[in-house]
Order: sequence, then C-alpha cells, then structure tokens
Amino acid sequence: MAILKIGDKIKIENAVILAPMEDVTEMPFRRICKNFGADIVYSEFISSEALYRKVEKSIRKILFSEEERPIGIQIFGANDEPMVESAKIVETYNPDFIDINYGCWVKNVVKNNAGAAMLKNPKRMQELTKLVVESVELPVTVKTRLGWDRNSIIICEVAKRLEDVGIAALAIHCRTREEAHKGDADWSWIAKVKQEVSIPIILNGDVKTALDVERAFKETGCDGVMIGRAAIGNPFIFREAKEYLRTGQIPSPPTIRERIEICLQHLKLNIEYKGERLGIIEFRKFYSGYLKNLPNASKIRSQIVTSESYQEIADILYNYTEYIETYPSNKQKEEFNTVVDFN
Ligand SMILES: Cc1cc2nc3c(=O)[nH]c(=O)nc-3n(C[C@H](O)[C@H](O)[C@H](O)COP(=O)(O)O)c2cc1C
Repeated sequence: MAILKIGDKIKIENAVILAPMEDVTEMPFRRICKNFGADIVYSEFISSEALYRKVEKSIRKILFSEEERPIGIQIFGANDEPMVESAKIVETYNPDFIDINYGCWVKNVVKNNAGAAMLKNPKRMQELTKLVVESVELPVTVKTRLGWDRNSIIICEVAKRLEDVGIAALAIHCRTREEAHKGDADWSWIAKVKQEVSIPIILNGDVKTALDVERAFKETGCDGVMIGRAAIGNPFIFREAKEYLRTGQIPSPPTIRERIEICLQHLKLNIEYKGERLGIIEFRKFYSGYLKNLPNASKIRSQIVTSESYQEIADILYNYTEYIETYPSNKQKEEFNTVVDFN
C-alpha cells in the first residue's frame, strides 16, 4: 500500500488526486470530486504576475471551501519577485500546500519562460523553487513533465534538484512539453525517478479507469495517482478507484439517474459560484462527460446548450432520464437513438 505524505499534516493511503485543470478544477467541480473520494484537489494554475498585481479575478481563484481540504493552490511564473510574493499571498489563505506549475505546454506561458519552459533550464527551475520554498511556511510541491522533448528527458535530474531545495512532493505528467497531450504517457519514468529521490512522487497522465489507478501504483511504485481529463464530467472515477483499491472489486458504474443528478448538482454549484448566465455557459464542457455513451447524448447536449435557465436544463435531463429508465430493451434503445425527437 502506498502512503503519500506531504509536509507534516497530509498522510493518505493510496491517494487518488484530482489534477489541476484550468477552467475545470474550480471550486464547484473540486467539491463534487471531493464528495466522490478524491483525496487531494488542486486549484487551476494562477498567474503569479496577476496575483502580484492583485488582479481580482486571479485572487478569486485562490478561494476554496473547508470541505475541499487537503487542497493545493497552484501558481506559475518565471520571475523571482512575483513568484515569491504570490506564494506569500496564497499562504495567507491557508491552503494545505502551494504547488508550482513547471509543466504547462501552451505557447503563451512558455514564451514567458514559465511552465514547461523551465524544463529547458533546470538550474533556473531549482533557483526559483528554492526562493519560493524559503519564503513560505507551507509545504511547496511541483508539477512538471518528463522534459522538453523526447531527446531531452531530464526528469531524474529535475527531481534531484527540487528535492535538494526542499519541495514536499513532485507530480509528474509522464509526457514531454513537445507532446502536449499527444501520444501515450510513459509511466516507466516514475520508477526511475523513485530510485533517485526520496520525496513522494505522484504519477499523472492517461489514468482513465479504476484499473489504471491500481496498475499505476503496482507497476511504478508511485506514492499517489493524479487524474485529469478522465474526471471531467466523471467524478465517479474517484469512488470507483478508491473502492477498487480497497476491496479489489470494481463497483457498478453510476446509474443514469445518478449521473444526471450529480450533473445537476454540479451545475447548481456552478451557478451559485458564477451566477446563472456564466454558470450555465461555462458548464458546457462538462456535459459530454456526464452523458458519455448514453443513447442520443449528442442530441440532448445540443438542446441543453441552448437553454438559459437551470430549470429548463433540469426538465430536459429528467425527462430524458425517465425516458431511458422506462425503456425495457436494447433494441428499443437503438430505436430511441434514431427516432426520438425531444423538440
Ligand atoms: C483543460 C485542461 C486544463 C489544464 N490545466 C492545467 C493547469 O492549470 N495546471 C496544470 O498543472 N496542468 C493542467 N492541465 C494538465 C493536467 O493537469 C494533466 O497533467 C494532463 O491533463 C494529463 O493528465 P490526464 O491524462 O489524466 O488528463 C490541464 C489539462 C487540461 C485537459
């Protein structure tokens, strides 16, 4: 059994963790994932430059609710003063740890030498991390990738450098910057890194099912497993993974009704958090997950994305649920796929 320790306070068996994701791991979704068993959640990445300038929208991204603990707030940047000062600002909100993003591959971040750009200069990454670690009392963790490209995989060196300056854990997205989200994540690097350092190592990349979580622990000896895309609109993956790790049994998947109910609960939280208009518009990214593989899902999705009120969306989704639940056979489900028009 793996035990993940971060600092003095976090100690979790077989930790299954929600990955930081911009515009996704906001408070509403984090709360939902926590309820389904995510052991640790992270904020989306927050610009240190924006926090340094006290940009309200960025400050708001630090906020979390007590039920989400343990939570890491993630910052990114390339410059000493904004990184140090933003870490201090984050610390005043008292999350459980501060995470530094050295893995973001997108051009706008990398062109400013932040995110995965640091993989081109591990010495600088180490120097900057040291400054942040020394400026706060909270544990500081890092999330990064294997290297800049396949010809420059430097994750073992990076792990050693970061361990030397006192980080509390390292999450590794097992791809290079050049790969972005393409190709397969290469988990074999986790075991190699584990041989080089004694800080906790969290595996990330292509963990899509409860079976993957178990395999990741078993094959690599990692201290925690982090799930990103497979959790979007599918918070049930945390319940499935935790139960499978505990009992060796794969729990039954959520019923259609549960999926719809949790989807609506999540939507409600999003509306509370952002107001009705934005809460509804910015929720669209979640529907394909909640409705995945359900009959006629794309048709339902195209109806709800034009709806402007919670009630209208709830009515469509509950009607849809009842319709499917009362359908007795697969043959009829096929029919349903082709003939039902919800308008
Ligand atoms: C929509 C989206 C937003 C992301 N935003 C962040 C982010 O803010 N910080 C971060 O460290 N990684 C971010 N990532 C990367 C994920 O945390 C994770 O490393 C990556 O998706 C691989 O894990 P997966 O295969 O489980 O999705 C993002 C990924 C996605 C898909």
